[in-house]
Amino acid sequence: MQKRYFLSALMVGLLGAYAGTATAQEKFKIGLILPMTGPFASTGKQIEAAARLYMAQNGDTVGGKKVELIVKDDTSAPDVTKRIAQELVVNDKVNVLAGFGLTPLALATAPIATQSKTPMVVMAAATSSITQASPYVVRTSFALPQAAVALADWVPNNGIKKVVTLVSDYGPGIDAEKFFKERLTFNGGEVIDTLRVPMRNPDFAPFLQKVRDLKPDALFVFVPSGAGAALMKQFAERGMDKAGIKLIGTGDITDDDILNSMGDVANGVVTSHHYSASHNSPLNKKFVAAFEKANAGLRPNFMAVGGYDGMRVIYEAAKTTKGGSGEALLNAMKGQVFESPRGPMFIDAQTRDVVHNIYIRKVEKVGGQLFNQEFSTIPDVKDPGKSK
Ligand code: DHB
Repeated sequence: MQKRYFLSALMVGLLGAYAGTATAQEKFKIGLILPMTGPFASTGKQIEAAARLYMAQNGDTVGGKKVELIVKDDTSAPDVTKRIAQELVVNDKVNVLAGFGLTPLALATAPIATQSKTPMVVMAAATSSITQASPYVVRTSFALPQAAVALADWVPNNGIKKVVTLVSDYGPGIDAEKFFKERLTFNGGEVIDTLRVPMRNPDFAPFLQKVRDLKPDALFVFVPSGAGAALMKQFAERGMDKAGIKLIGTGDITDDDILNSMGDVANGVVTSHHYSASHNSPLNKKFVAAFEKANAGLRPNFMAVGGYDGMRVIYEAAKTTKGGSGEALLNAMKGQVFESPRGPMFIDAQTRDVVHNIYIRKVEKVGGQLFNQEFSTIPDVKDPGKSK
């Protein structure tokens, strides 16, 4: 009798101890790979800050597990992104990979997501084809054709017929050029030249000189986040605006976190994009205020919103699956519908890509500061690149 009691007490004790360690060890791990140094560090800074804000607002326990955010700097080198992803999957056994500041970084990692069946949430990169690189990719940033087509519909109705395009010579730039040109031509406008500049350290001067000589009604530009200020500066220095050439582009050139430093040349520039820090909704006002408060006044840009919404998609999927992984976690990400600081947002279950509003915006001074003021909305835009 006594022996039996002793044994069962021992069992209970052991089970309790086992359960205790199990609870302490149960983690839901998010491997967040970002360019934190180098020319694209602003993307990493924005996304990390947004992810930390999301966790501060929503707690660090989800689906009964403690969330561990592992942030790694890939210095924007694709081979480094790939190596880090491998280590996060094999050594840390992360439930999900996230981040991806540039298209080549996302494309380098996609095979790892496929092989290891790890969901991969793309929060920044925006070439249309990225979602097709692995069935485990889910995107919360945007796709360049969404923004490029919306602007090509606006342009011919607003006194612009002849356009020269100037894009960074890699995935998103080529998407922007192709979809803008096709749609503008369809709408009766004309792209009279297509110019491409290197993705890293571009010298815009010779290209802008060429544009001046061609005298289009407008110059359409795509450069990645952070590079817009240099372009604007050179555009003004060459007196392009005074020569009557309008500057237009996707919203990457009037990036919210550096817009204020661009000065008067940015004033009046019309762009198309899915997010503006001045988006007029109670949810966005709350988001911007909380982000600025937590980051010494830094204004969130479209990269931050991609990171914030990416965390939302991950958290909700973790809740549904009780901290799951692999295909179950992936499936719980598909089809999510929610309100983002950008406006209504939907993860298309078929394409795993984001469906959201695209806004036409104009840079204006509000309370002494430059903002992208939204004045027209194209609702629920799917990536036009997917129907090709
Ligand atoms: C990409 C990077 C950017 O900084 C941006 O604004 C848009 C697209 C990219 O590499 O996919």
